[in-house]
Amino acid sequence: MTTTQLKHYLQFTDLTADEYAYLFARTALIKQKFKAYEKHHPLVDRTLAMIFEKASTRTRVSFEAGMYQLGGSVVHLTTGDSQLGRAEPIEDSARVISRMVDLVMIRTFGQDKIERFAEYSRVPVINGLTNEYHPCQILADIFTYIEHRGSITGKVVAWVGDGNNMANTWLQAAELLGFTVHVSTPSGYEIDPAVAGVKRGSYQVFKDPMQACAGADLVTTDVWTSMGFEAENEARKKAFADWCVDADMMRAAKADALFMHCLPAHRGEEVEAEVIDGPQSVVWDEAENRLHVQKALMEYLLLGIQK
Ligand code: CP
Ligand code: NVA
Repeated sequence: MTTTQLKHYLQFTDLTADEYAYLFARTALIKQKFKAYEKHHPLVDRTLAMIFEKASTRTRVSFEAGMYQLGGSVVHLTTGDSQLGRAEPIEDSARVISRMVDLVMIRTFGQDKIERFAEYSRVPVINGLTNEYHPCQILADIFTYIEHRGSITGKVVAWVGDGNNMANTWLQAAELLGFTVHVSTPSGYEIDPAVAGVKRGSYQVFKDPMQACAGADLVTTDVWTSMGFEAENEARKKAFADWCVDADMMRAAKADALFMHCLPAHRGEEVEAEVIDGPQSVVWDEAENRLHVQKALMEYLLLGIQK
């Protein structure tokens, strides 16, 4: 079982700025080894349980491939093919699963569910997306920013779209790592600073998405309708019509601004094809980096700092 103090990754604020500095440096090394086909097997005989209560492509592939590449193995569970979907209490599932594996990754609905699981877990728990947060994605996004442009400290990130799990996590990261988020959402879909748990200062709110993008170093967006909110789809399509990242918004940003999207994307809705498929977009690096940052994260949660 684990050799270091039990540490979960349930939201971005669960690690310190120093821990992030370590993780970003470690990710670069792990990525370099991967590209050189160099073996890196610190997690031999360790097992990751992945629990999905919502769909996934990137999170599934990156955690599963990542764990095998670290020398470990994985167990994949979904609501439909386990007792999780048949009302076994989350506390009981946590007690049982965490006696059999070394690490658990969960994608679910309410943050309260993953917190309850973690409370009863003997092993580290990682948030693979909840309604409130998506910390592994922002970890990858910031690593990607650093790879392309250097430190994100002091920079401006424009968030155009829904005040959702991604937006909340960007706000948490901004407060922790010292950058600013310019947020523009349609009315009725604003961010809730209480959910992000942040004070005003690391973010500013703009009615007009063009203004949010003005002078930004990074422009980013996400789907208009997140998983779990499908019943609101038609209403959201109307409300979000002006929150589509287009070439004009990218022109309002800095000349060397990057564009990111956690994917999956809907071209013609939250982003125009010419932006996501254009020269400022780094979405494929961003997706790939999920693999590398999560390998560093899993290694860190199980083994601590590696010299
Ligand atoms: N970005 C992201 O988490 O993608 P998936 O939903 O495919 O895992
Ligand atoms: N905000 C989106 C992100 C998907 C990766 C959702 O929660 O569905």
